[in-house]
Amino acid sequence: MLPKVADPRIPEELPTARLLLRRWRSSDLDSLAQMFAQPEVWEFPFARGLTREETELRLSRYIETWEHDGFGKYAVELSGDGPLIGCVGLELATWFHEIEGEVEIGWRLDPRYWGDGYATEAALASLKVGFDRLGLDRIVAVVEPANLASLRLAEKIGLRVVRETLEPKFGRLLEVFVVEREIFEEATGSQTAVEDGLHSAKVLDTTTRAH
Ligand SMILES: CC(C)(COP(=O)(O)OP(=O)(O)OC[C@H]1O[C@@H](n2cnc3c(N)ncnc32)[C@H](O)[C@@H]1OP(=O)(O)O)[C@@H](O)C(=O)NCCC(=O)NCCS
Repeated sequence: MLPKVADPRIPEELPTARLLLRRWRSSDLDSLAQMFAQPEVWEFPFARGLTREETELRLSRYIETWEHDGFGKYAVELSGDGPLIGCVGLELATWFHEIEGEVEIGWRLDPRYWGDGYATEAALASLKVGFDRLGLDRIVAVVEPANLASLRLAEKIGLRVVRETLEPKFGRLLEVFVVEREIFEEATGSQTAVEDGLHSAKVLDTTTRAH
């Protein structure tokens, strides 16, 4: 049963080897607005950067989602009081009827920090929270086929494509990915990482993922 209010099983602060994943604060607006204004951050789906007002609305939604659902996407910081570098984590899918009611993983990093494995690290930590703390049986992701970085990231953390579909509102082609709890636990060696604060979050070897 998914929580509907702040739930002590869900860490509001989640340290990984190099990152701190944490709940959002309204004071994140300046950093987030700078990040989200860059067109490459929102190439998928909007092909443009966001205005400050649009980011402000999104930030309010991130904050409200945590308050309402007891979990949500995390603000991602570099460890040791480092800068905000992105937004990664789980959310109840409400935007697309085909996955409504499922828990979806999403990711978006500042381009200055792409290519260093940070998205992989944050996404694996988020999946572990979903399986070990929320007790989910499966987690989904939805990626546009042209979004090569996201396709690779999804594969790398153990998600597999289950179908291609057309999103009716904007007519976008989308790949629907899924990872089940057993597959994830088999591949990562399971619960221990959450118990030790996720410091041991291990990158999945692509040879172990499900097809
Ligand atoms: C998707 C995103 C979060 C990946 O961030 P990242 O920090 O570069 O990811 P990682 O460094 O953890 O890399 C994960 C894998 O993706 C691969 N990758 C990264 N960019 C890639 C690209 N442009 N093309 C192909 N593969 C790519 C990496 O090489 C790595 O795979 P490998 O270990 O086999 O080499 C980042 O590109 C991003 O924020 N994109 C814009 C936001 C977005 O599109 N979000 C998704 C909406 S569905």
